[in-house]
Amino acid sequence: MTLDEWAVRDLPAWPQYDDAERTALLRALEQGQWWRVAGNEVDAFEEEFAAYHGAARAIAVTNGTHALELGLELLGVGPGSQVIVPAFTFISTSLAVQRRGAVAVPVDVDPETYCMDPTAAAAGVTSRTRAIMPVHMAGQVADMDALDKLAADSGAAIIQDAAHAHGATWRSRRIGELGSIAAFSFQNGKLMTAGEGGALLLSHEDEYHQAFLRHSCGRPPTDTRYLHRTTGSNYRMNEFSAAVLRAQLGRLDGQIDLREARAALLTELLAEIPGVRPQRRDDRCDRNPHYMLMFRLPGVSEERRNEIVRRLVAHGVPAFVAFRAIYRTESFWLKGAPDTTAEELAERCPNSEAINADTIWLHHRTMLGTEHQMRQIARAVAATLREV
Ligand SMILES: Cc1ncc(COP(=O)(O)O)c(C=O)c1O
Repeated sequence: MTLDEWAVRDLPAWPQYDDAERTALLRALEQGQWWRVAGNEVDAFEEEFAAYHGAARAIAVTNGTHALELGLELLGVGPGSQVIVPAFTFISTSLAVQRRGAVAVPVDVDPETYCMDPTAAAAGVTSRTRAIMPVHMAGQVADMDALDKLAADSGAAIIQDAAHAHGATWRSRRIGELGSIAAFSFQNGKLMTAGEGGALLLSHEDEYHQAFLRHSCGRPPTDTRYLHRTTGSNYRMNEFSAAVLRAQLGRLDGQIDLREARAALLTELLAEIPGVRPQRRDDRCDRNPHYMLMFRLPGVSEERRNEIVRRLVAHGVPAFVAFRAIYRTESFWLKGAPDTTAEELAERCPNSEAINADTIWLHHRTMLGTEHQMRQIARAVAATLREV
């Protein structure tokens, strides 16, 4: 077999844009004021993003990592607090906790959905647990029924890391209707993007007021007298980003519908390949925006998985290795790590340890392709597994 025989060609590019983004950028430009304090775009985007997700309010910020930090700050997470995080996630989940001066406590994930395992989370709760931070991995909403119950029983707050979950629903409830703070990312690869950006969904007007102060160096919205009412930083989104995101939000529903259809087909095709186990859908997640299509190759070594990804990329498939388990990074141990070792955490988190080594993900632009391209991708995966 030559590489070309299995080549996947002409998948849609990402990010996508058209005259909606062009018009939006010009509109922001011609306002003559390019920061949120004097413009309209960030205010309008916050209203539209909150309404879309069924939340009372949204606050737009510089990126998803800052959204998590701001959300934790609103919950009072700081030195002395612990926050439960999944061991398998992108590093910002734990980094945000550690940047607040708190301790990130990794717990294992479910081996099929790759989301926080509620039983493992319960085992990680102590008298110092201030918050639990589930990640909606690849668009699959974490088990919010069990985690909300755990939060209610333990007195901890929930903060959803929804960086992958724009437009997702859980038992017909949108992310903003789940009753907890949720943090989003608009980084270049995300489901809607302005290159960088982030947002928090909030349930109360007072939370928005507090968030506004803290994301703007402690200043009230109309302050001209340097009245710094509280501590904070500058996490303000600029007007250009918000204008682009308003256009991107307008395209999201159509893209989710298409990805739902293509993900169903591609998942079915991949599941037929011996040795491939796609991420399982928990049916209570009745709308999954499919930020990634993930699949495991159980029993395959990390080296072989990495070689398979390299060959898939050569076949034209936008494939990537899974996130490294957070306790397998140097960053995790520098500040705010629990009093344990990577080896102990690996033993406590066997699913995260395995997923970290045997999992591959495909970028969501894949699922904006045609049915024919889904078949080509499945054939490329099958051929690559035979080759490597
Ligand atoms: C699960 C998760 N949380 C948080 C983030 C952080 O978002 P950002 O890159 O916008 O800071 C990401 C981003 O890639 C992510 O995947």
